[in-house]
Amino acid sequence: MNIKEETAKAVLESYSARTPQSKAMAEVAERYIPSGDTRAISWFAPYPTFGEVGRGFELVDYDGNVYIDLMNLMTAAIHGHAHPAIVAAQMEQIGKGVSHGIPAESQYKLAKILVDRVASVEKVRFMNTGSEACLFAMRAARAFTGRDIILKMDGGYHGCSDYAQTNEHADVMHQNPPQLFIANKGVPDLILKNMRVVDYGDLEAARRVMDAEGDKIAAIMLEPMLGAGGGINPPDSYLAGLRELCDKHGALLIFDEVISFRLSLGGRQGLARVKPDLTTFGKIIGGGIGIGALGGRSDIMRLFDPRIAGGINHSGTFTGNALAMVSGIASLENITQGALDRMDAQASTLVAVVGKKIKGLGINAAAKGVGSMMVIYPTRREIANSRDALLAMLKNKQFMQMLHLELLNRGVVCLSRGLFALSTPMTDAVIEEAGKRICAALETVAALCEEF
Ligand SMILES: Cc1ncc(COP(=O)(O)O)c(C=O)c1O
Repeated sequence: MNIKEETAKAVLESYSARTPQSKAMAEVAERYIPSGDTRAISWFAPYPTFGEVGRGFELVDYDGNVYIDLMNLMTAAIHGHAHPAIVAAQMEQIGKGVSHGIPAESQYKLAKILVDRVASVEKVRFMNTGSEACLFAMRAARAFTGRDIILKMDGGYHGCSDYAQTNEHADVMHQNPPQLFIANKGVPDLILKNMRVVDYGDLEAARRVMDAEGDKIAAIMLEPMLGAGGGINPPDSYLAGLRELCDKHGALLIFDEVISFRLSLGGRQGLARVKPDLTTFGKIIGGGIGIGALGGRSDIMRLFDPRIAGGINHSGTFTGNALAMVSGIASLENITQGALDRMDAQASTLVAVVGKKIKGLGINAAAKGVGSMMVIYPTRREIANSRDALLAMLKNKQFMQMLHLELLNRGVVCLSRGLFALSTPMTDAVIEEAGKRICAALETVAALCEEF
């Protein structure tokens, strides 16, 4: 066996030895659920770790292993798990019934927090997921402008709706420019007619599309910080440039802040001082319960008013349910500027520690920070867009897979693509411990890191 085979074998053996209960559960689960887990993002080989308890910054699996949770529900659990204020709000609501089918006061209280915090948001409608929010954002833009085409970014993730499936992961088959394609089976080709795609961060490419077809384009839609596709924080001038393009051509600008809303009280747009016409939210605004929201200009959001003839019919059995609303209020009330600043500083410390280790090991990797998040890229090359990030992942797949497993072996949960998100209960001591564990894991799997 060579060093690479030995390293992978040792990591897998350690994982199996630590997680017999998860293995047994995965085997039973697979009888009832394809792959044994209901989300593609949380499944990984050889089997995922099954979690029993979440408390603060920790997760506990069924074998009793305790982890520092740096995944935090795909960045959504900004307060970690079972935050006392959120639990208290939930318990009170559970006693009163969780979803009444008639509006509750909590609905407009949560909407008010979003309106107060986000300068571009004048009115809000709630959904059950970020996917639904993005779907309705596109629909609203089309209804408002009377145009059909949405321009999105290669590798931009906006949930599971058909239109969002175009280039949902980056087009690694073509170099610049990316080609429009449907990333998952089951979506009809005809939707391609009404979508266009350019590279994230490439203002000139967006300008070319707008100059050619601007009068048919309903909206440009993007994450103002590319979270799902690689953790890329563009310069403010890029976002301002897209704003100008939309204004010039009468198109709407949609910011998907489902992840980036954790970057400041007013979202990524608040930092850039760029006002989109519509914004989608999810994740942290639900305090751990499924939620989505669409907010924006009153004249556009008016389309959702059922009193207006020819508007958009938007309902949903669980939409605006009181449990999600009270959880969201408790979550947002506990996101203060001080809490964000502290997490950002902690993330910077973590990035510095991990970056130093990577340098010391001399491996082909890099640690980058974005607000309260850190990404480990399996490359030293510049990551300018989602394609760069995905290509690096594909070229160094085994290293990333084994790093993820070795982190679990050492008691750290992160997203398998190398994304780490902090939570408010983390103290500096927790970050220091997490840094030590990440460095130790990197050292163990360093031999697997490929040069390219
Ligand atoms: C940027 C972005 N938009 C939309 C979504 C979809 O949200 P949900 O998973 O709640 O449907 C996600 C989910 O990860 C996301 O990261």
